[in-house]
Amino acid sequence: MKKGKIISFEGPDGAGKSTVLETLMPVLQQKYDGHVIMTREPGGVAIAEKIRHVILDVNHTSMDSKTELLLYAAARRQHLVEKILPELEKGNLVLIDRFIDSSVAYQGYGRGIAVSDVDWLNHYATDGIKPDLTLLFDVPSETGLARIQTNNEREVNRLDLEKLDMHQRVRQGYLSLASQEPKRIKIIDASQSLETVIKDTQTILETFLELS
Ligand code: TMP
Repeated sequence: MKKGKIISFEGPDGAGKSTVLETLMPVLQQKYDGHVIMTREPGGVAIAEKIRHVILDVNHTSMDSKTELLLYAAARRQHLVEKILPELEKGNLVLIDRFIDSSVAYQGYGRGIAVSDVDWLNHYATDGIKPDLTLLFDVPSETGLARIQTNNEREVNRLDLEKLDMHQRVRQGYLSLASQEPKRIKIIDASQSLETVIKDTQTILETFLELS
């Protein structure tokens, strides 16, 4: 029986979600009355990190879209079983950098795989578990890509190298998911200054977790 909570951080590449998550993690650990963990997809556990390596290798340009989708789903399943479910059973709060919506936005809207197939596979991989709250860091694709290109500390992965139109479809995919599930998915304007984005995110999290 699920007792803990999942909050996922989503958005196109270059939206800054990982920086915001890392900044707010210690704040939440201090304020939240319970244990908080931070993890990421694809990855989070050894097997899934190895799958991440295969998916994101810039040399793997011949990877088929369905192969890519299946690898994300495999990484998700392993991560869920090995790490997320045990944390939820202990009643902990799991903050996750990307989850099911990334597959819908990137492999569904971005690559053109039927969204109904992606939904089915997500459901199969997670046994139907969905985040309790999803924060969507929305940024115009041109801004996101420009940020990636100027950030020397960030690893450049195979999906970063995709053309602008793929990134635009991903963004539209996220926005359409948010309009379909407005209660779960909250949009944050990530084109603002990092300071403002962090403040907006903190406000939403504190309200949701009833911290203030
Ligand atoms: P990251 O750079 O945020 O760690 O994510 C790695 C890349 O993987 C990013 O470009 C988004 C992509 N991705 C998908 O295409 N589908 C997925 O299901 C997930 C989790 C990530």
